[in-house]
Amino acid sequence: MPTSIARAHTNIALVKYWGKADTDLIIPQTSSLSLTLDQFYTDTSVTFDERLTADQVVVNHQSLSPTASRKVRHVLDLVRHQAQTTTFAQVTSQNHVPTAAGLASSASAFAALAAAASRAAGLTLDRTALSRLARRGSGSATRSIFGGFVEWQAGHDDATSYAVPFQEHVTWPIAMVALVLDPHRKKVSSRQGMQASVTTSPYYPAWRQVVAQDLAAIKPAILAQDFPIVGTILESNAMRMHALTLSAQPAYSYFNGDSLAAMQTVRDLRAAGTACYYTLDAGPNVKVFCQAADLPTITQRFSAQFGADRVLVAHPGPGVQWLSEP
Ligand code: DP6
Repeated sequence: MPTSIARAHTNIALVKYWGKADTDLIIPQTSSLSLTLDQFYTDTSVTFDERLTADQVVVNHQSLSPTASRKVRHVLDLVRHQAQTTTFAQVTSQNHVPTAAGLASSASAFAALAAAASRAAGLTLDRTALSRLARRGSGSATRSIFGGFVEWQAGHDDATSYAVPFQEHVTWPIAMVALVLDPHRKKVSSRQGMQASVTTSPYYPAWRQVVAQDLAAIKPAILAQDFPIVGTILESNAMRMHALTLSAQPAYSYFNGDSLAAMQTVRDLRAAGTACYYTLDAGPNVKVFCQAADLPTITQRFSAQFGADRVLVAHPGPGVQWLSEP
């Protein structure tokens, strides 16, 4: 039975995806832009095996129940449909990402799954098709097919909603410091949270405008390697996304006390002359965008505040790769 193993890295959105126009096909309300990170990734092996009577999904050495593996099986069904097969698969996945802690393990997981499952089924999909397939598992996975700075173009249907590389080979000496402030699974999933924002936040129409403006402004700033402009945009974009959680009915928040303390430290560092900016996804962990030259100052400061084992440093990372071919 052919096996394929793929590795995909997670990504951090600088201009966030927060809301779907189509919840089944995962078509987003807006485009978004991210940076793929080198330190956090998922390795996934897929084997289609005629002896199996159901899909078997093992993540981090734990077998998933049919309910927990629903999204994985959905992607496998799409692959089976394209490959015109009914054979079940053995999926074994190892996450090198703190799962569901706002470090977007679903992004690397579904990008790796799309790559490994399609190859194992004998399909040769180009990166656009892989991006569309990964999207069906989790929106942010759409972008993890590519390395560096990546734009997910919202599109309007399955065929037109996929990611494109904005700048794959990043020479800019930047880094992302991830502060693991709470390693536990998030209480409100991004799927539920963004849907609540779309349907109940009166600020949702304003968010769509914010994203359009931020995308238009951040792209030339990335090309110009203008650190303060890119940092200012990503920080305000994240805060405006989180304003959609507080303005939903009922309101919710992904921040905890440590998130607020970490954001204050970033502002203190900035006031003392070390340029750095924060962003948060659907969890309490703060990610700090900085210049590589400032890493010693920044990691020292956060190690003193939260402990060195909670301070992880990442740099721009690559797109999806196959570690073995069928
Ligand atoms: C805050 O991709 O996890 O990280 O499409 O429902 O699986 P689903 O959501 P998901 O949402 C990511 C939200 C975010 C912002 C981003 O990555 O753009």
